[in-house]
Amino acid sequence: MDFKFTEEHEMMRKMVSAFAEKEITPHIEAMETGVFPKTILQKMGELGLMGIPISEEYGGAGMDFMSYIIAINEISKVSPTLGVILSVHTSVGTNPIVYFGTEEQKRKYVPKLAAGKNLGAFCLTEQSSGSDAASLKSKAVAVKEGGQYRINGSKVFITNGGQADVFIVFASTDPQKGSKGISAFVVEKGTPGLIIGKDERKMGLHGSSTVQVTFEDMKVPAANLLGKEGEGFKIAMANLDAGRIGIAAQALGIAEGAMEHAVRYAKSREQFGKPIAEQQGIGFKLAEMATGIEASRLLVYRAAYLRSQGLNCGKEAAMAKLFASRTAVEVAIEAVQVFGGYGYTTDYPVERYFRDAKVTEIYEGTSEIQRMVISKNL
Ligand code: CAA
Repeated sequence: MDFKFTEEHEMMRKMVSAFAEKEITPHIEAMETGVFPKTILQKMGELGLMGIPISEEYGGAGMDFMSYIIAINEISKVSPTLGVILSVHTSVGTNPIVYFGTEEQKRKYVPKLAAGKNLGAFCLTEQSSGSDAASLKSKAVAVKEGGQYRINGSKVFITNGGQADVFIVFASTDPQKGSKGISAFVVEKGTPGLIIGKDERKMGLHGSSTVQVTFEDMKVPAANLLGKEGEGFKIAMANLDAGRIGIAAQALGIAEGAMEHAVRYAKSREQFGKPIAEQQGIGFKLAEMATGIEASRLLVYRAAYLRSQGLNCGKEAAMAKLFASRTAVEVAIEAVQVFGGYGYTTDYPVERYFRDAKVTEIYEGTSEIQRMVISKNL
């Protein structure tokens, strides 16, 4: 058992950490006002960060899954907004094509996605089908003439949706068959009948785009069916396994970022004649936060290791997400407490981590869904 990063992984960590500090930090305020970080994503693309685990053959960086998780972790310490954009783009916006696409689909879509020239989104959730993903109602009706599918319906809470170029869309081609009647499609921005709604106003992650997407008689070429008809649910679930490790790494980054600020502040802020870090009430708080983070780190990187080795990781991914997201919320709440009144103002970053943390317990499967996945696997 080796708890050290390899040299390559450590280089990745340092490179991304330096990039985040230099290129992302100056834009945090703008992102808080709702500005989507297009120029940062372009730079990330140039550095190969938008296609880390994608093979070089398809324009990616050809690195392993672990490197990708390290990048999300480091970026999220500084900007959870960029962490989720990267995670959704790669895990569920690009990888479904990499793993389930035809050679033609891969050649057509993956190089631009991996280079960050195109952004990916994942359209699964619907207004009345969130946790129960198999109950979705969008109907993709196969039109025999002309080799097209016509899709009607709508999706909600689509991360990256307002800025995406490629959408992985799940729709039912055979409603009688339940989860086995769901199919997946690659849909391009600009397809007639693809209607992008306005950005949701959210508690946190203000620089990320979350929209409703509506399909009105949207015609998709049959060549854009991903996998076979009826394979959509499995495609969604298989990619969510890895996706959940990405969100767990984002949550870990949030906790680490909040903790770093809290420790620095606690060492410099004096009350009752000494730094508050030396007061037991605050020192013990920091100790609990650090322990939660260490446990999250082990779960996240172990799940990433399994995935890197091509081993089953559904249960471990769910455990990592469940634990790391809870830790992110707890640590961010405590970080605000360490800062006292200052923590409640926007002059310090801890209130932002606090707001950004909550959704890690909700998206890519709520904590309740993670418990279902874990318990089913026992
Ligand atoms: N990999 C491959 N196949 C899988 C699978 C997996 N991880 N999990 C399930 N399947 C297969 C099953 O094997 C089964 O097929 P068979 O009958 O052939 O064996 C089929 O899928 C149905 O499985 P279940 O009966 O277990 O499905 P279910 O209806 O009980 O649902 C669930 C399972 C885990 C609750 C699922 O509905 C789920 O994950 N819900 C949460 C949805 C979710 O995570 N949404 C996230 C949206 S994306 C997002 O949030 C992105 C973002 O913005 C950040």
